[in-house]
Amino acid sequence: MDIKGTSVVITGGASGLGAGAARLFVEQGAKVALFDRNLELAQQTASELACLAVACDVADEASVLKALKQVTESNGAPRIFINCAGIDIAGRIATRGGGPQPLDALGKQIAVNLTGTFNVCRLGADLVRQLDRLDGEEQGVIVNVASVAGLDGPRGQTAYAATKAAVIGMTLPMARDLAGYGVRVVTIAPGVFNTPLAAEVLRGDPETMTESVPFPKRAGQPAEFGKLALHICQNPMLNGEVIRLDGGLRAT
Ligand SMILES: NC(=O)c1ccc[n+]([C@@H]2O[C@H](COP(=O)([O-])OP(=O)(O)OC[C@H]3O[C@@H](n4cnc5c(N)ncnc54)[C@H](O)[C@@H]3O)[C@@H](O)[C@H]2O)c1
Repeated sequence: MDIKGTSVVITGGASGLGAGAARLFVEQGAKVALFDRNLELAQQTASELACLAVACDVADEASVLKALKQVTESNGAPRIFINCAGIDIAGRIATRGGGPQPLDALGKQIAVNLTGTFNVCRLGADLVRQLDRLDGEEQGVIVNVASVAGLDGPRGQTAYAATKAAVIGMTLPMARDLAGYGVRVVTIAPGVFNTPLAAEVLRGDPETMTESVPFPKRAGQPAEFGKLALHICQNPMLNGEVIRLDGGLRAT
């Protein structure tokens, strides 16, 4: 799909991977809207990148509908959705010192990572399916964000990994559901990237947590995530797939 002039929604776009993708998409001439529940940060990022900030809680139907209306009025109906909004509440499922992990650790992550992704996909897809085909072929693209945690099962990530495995599981059926409308669905499973979320979960600089990364031995940069998201949008043969972006990392 040609990105130039296309209305693009990036959830969680105020920070980290979403902000990295937003920068690249703006540079390519897309009309980008950052959907984030942290409006202040979204406005700061949007003013740096020259794009639109929209208050949105991805887990809330009314909030997403309102945000979609706003972006459609300002930038036109969106055809591309990059779903980066996510949280990671690390913790082992039970420990001698701490007992069982609080149940709401799972509930909170399901709300954002799973329900939020599903919510934006279903409401976004319903908009896109009503648009025209571009060049008689493509109508839209959805890029979801999982994690290598959803595939490799690192310690202290049972609840988070479950929500990310669910995003991985949505990929193929959603691609099949939307194929008749010319909408592709691809999931990126990042390894360690240098973002505020990774620094918080790893309790330190992501750059120092890369001993299990074969090459390159460093954390990924949000711009490198953005490059893959851009390529997915531009390459019509990518569909229904989960792509690891991790420098060969297999998490332990
Ligand atoms: N950074 C990594 O190493 C890494 C690795 C694997 C997967 N991921 C995934 O990538 C995605 C982006 O992570 P990041 O590292 O850029 O994190 P980040 O914390 O830098 O950015 C996440 C953004 O999502 C927003 N957000 C959170 N809950 C929201 C909600 N309910 N509605 C709208 N916005 C909401 C936050 O305000 C924030 O701006 C997440 O899904 C994360 O799980 C990150």
